[in-house]
Amino acid sequence: MLDGRRILLIISGGIAAYKCLDLIRQLRTHGAAVRCILTRSATEFVTPLSVAALSGDKVYGDLFSLTDEHDMGHIQLSRDADLLVVVPATANILARMAQGIADDLATTALLATDKPVMVAPSMNVRMWEHEATRANMAVLRSRNVTVLGPDSGDMACGEYGEGRMVEPADIVAAIERSFADQGRLAGQRALVTSGPTHEPIDPVRYIANRSSGKQGHAIAAALARMGAETILITGPTQETDPPGVAVIRVETAQQMLEACQTALPADVAVCAAAVSDWRPESAGGQKIKKNGAPPKLSLTENPDILKTLATAGNGRPRLVIGFAAETGDVIAKAKPKLLAKGCDWIVANDVAPGTQTFGGSDNSVHLITADRVESWPRMSKQAVADQLASLIADAIG
Ligand code: C5P
Repeated sequence: MLDGRRILLIISGGIAAYKCLDLIRQLRTHGAAVRCILTRSATEFVTPLSVAALSGDKVYGDLFSLTDEHDMGHIQLSRDADLLVVVPATANILARMAQGIADDLATTALLATDKPVMVAPSMNVRMWEHEATRANMAVLRSRNVTVLGPDSGDMACGEYGEGRMVEPADIVAAIERSFADQGRLAGQRALVTSGPTHEPIDPVRYIANRSSGKQGHAIAAALARMGAETILITGPTQETDPPGVAVIRVETAQQMLEACQTALPADVAVCAAAVSDWRPESAGGQKIKKNGAPPKLSLTENPDILKTLATAGNGRPRLVIGFAAETGDVIAKAKPKLLAKGCDWIVANDVAPGTQTFGGSDNSVHLITADRVESWPRMSKQAVADQLASLIADAIG
């Protein structure tokens, strides 16, 4: 239930705007108080009158309306809400949010808020897949905006693909979940490793891998959203720092281990980093010159950070979670790692060529514990992070 929760619904101008009427009805049936802002183009799809009738409140739309500003200033509108939901979120409003543009009441309220924000994107598949939209979504995710969907399916424009707004019932469920999740990990300390490591061969060359850090960073963000004091120890990545997370940047496996040990104690450790198993035995201070035969690289084993954390005696976090990036027979290959590493759960994912798991924004994972294997449907890395954080809260919260 959403009893007494105050939701500021920002309706932008997409064909899915008509679904907002049902969403408002469902939210109110669940006990929420719903106040709505309509962008100018949203009024081409739904009328303020029907929105007002269903929400049982005045509908706002004009940043420069003297009456509106007198009744309820634009800052007050976002202050008075527990959650802001942009639905449908068009490519245009998402771009304006990412840029921090505040040229109407909707975007001004979004810029003025310090409350959680959710968006339910809805647009043509090509617009969703456009590089500009992808970049905007990455910015919004890095600012902790929760992204619901979009779904795949037939579109109003006659095309098929990803870009369809998630159904109102799913939005209500996500809103309920987000309220239920708040503070579930308050008072807990979480340690997350993410990204690749770089192991120097000489001062200019190194051994690395294709890990982007997206999944690890998303997990840190999800744990922080649930109230955990979260420390993210990351190898070199392009990802922006997740909000509310203390980020420690390292390059090598040895540095990552040291940083983890310094960060202890923790209640939960999630080792999502793709740590290089080996490093060049001796990386001198001089660049290796190209004279004669190619040099022979002699490798030595890196410390296993997950295993070290999982067997740390008294300082062992209560819950230690490892990842296993495998190709083919993923579950069979990942399962023995529970024992080999001494961790409590393994999140196994398929990184075979073509899966686009490395670097992509989606992931298909299997959660392996001592007594069960759960295969999750393919979903965004943010959704994997949210689901994992929720299970972590069940286990230690
Ligand atoms: O043995 P494998 O590399 O497949 O194990 C993967 C898991 O172990 C991941 O959780 C990874 O973060 C962790 N790991 C580690 N230190 C290493 C190698 C792997 O923490 N040196």
